[in-house]
Amino acid sequence: MAEAQARQRGGYTEDVSAERLAEIGLRFEVDGEIATITLDRPEKRNAQTFATWSALARIGEDLPEQVRVVVVKGEGPSFSAGIDLRMFTPEGVPGQGSFSSAAKSDGAGFEQRIRQAQAGFLWLRRPEIVSIAAVQGHAIGAGFQLALACDLRIVADNVRFCMKEPALGLVPDLTGTKPLVELVGLAKAIDICLTARTVHADEAMRIGLAERVVAGGDLDKAVQDKIAELLSTNRDAAVATKRLLQGAQARTLEEQSVAEGLEQAARIKALFG
Ligand code: ACO
Repeated sequence: MAEAQARQRGGYTEDVSAERLAEIGLRFEVDGEIATITLDRPEKRNAQTFATWSALARIGEDLPEQVRVVVVKGEGPSFSAGIDLRMFTPEGVPGQGSFSSAAKSDGAGFEQRIRQAQAGFLWLRRPEIVSIAAVQGHAIGAGFQLALACDLRIVADNVRFCMKEPALGLVPDLTGTKPLVELVGLAKAIDICLTARTVHADEAMRIGLAERVVAGGDLDKAVQDKIAELLSTNRDAAVATKRLLQGAQARTLEEQSVAEGLEQAARIKALFG
């Protein structure tokens, strides 16, 4: 059964049966228009591996069409302590290699592997959904980038964001650099990444990393409240509006006005045609 559900893509077997997700340290639940992805390896502070990212990509590919909101959360005290540090050891993560084995492979192969990992993050920005990261405790490296991959971040007052990669000789490569710059500006992004310092809740709120800060015990309720607000608008209008907002920065005002007109004409046709 598990094998029947497995798919071979680019050298990875992505099996998103509940049992396989549990092995990887993930849970995935769909309740009507709401999907919830839970990083579920609290004893290892929800450290992530290439298997985590392959599974996320596959969840994104197979997301049921009715889903409008995707919540990404972490079990336990930390949202995620980032990449599994076993990747830095010669032994690596069983079945997934290590950075030393990657260094010995040809460059194109590892670049391809990174692209596959990034696919696990990129789908969270699709116009058809709104993604919310519910973040408590540490969100380090890949954990920070997973939170950045989401449209909105609702955080607990004990949140600790840290872009640790440059301290470890790496760059943030899990799609986090662009949203970080867009959210906080280039100077602050340079400050946060190149010092690998910790950003606490009050600063996260002030610089636009977080939409809302709540006491830890209120995080689930705050997310539920936001979901209710998001689901109160018209689905097709929400999708078209997100598309417009996402394209706004790359367009001139004139081009954006044209895009608004086109989307509105389609809305009017759908509503009154
Ligand atoms: N990978 C693998 N295991 C981890 C990781 C990780 N990234 N982070 C924590 N763990 C494990 C610990 O080894 C420990 O395991 P053990 O109980 O078998 O000894 C367990 O999780 C609990 O960790 P503690 O350090 O005891 O937990 P604490 O709550 O005190 O601290 C913290 C949490 C701050 C997140 C700390 O664990 C930490 O600094 N982790 C490493 C963070 C890191 O450098 N990540 C890489 C970022 S770069 C990137 O993601 C690309």
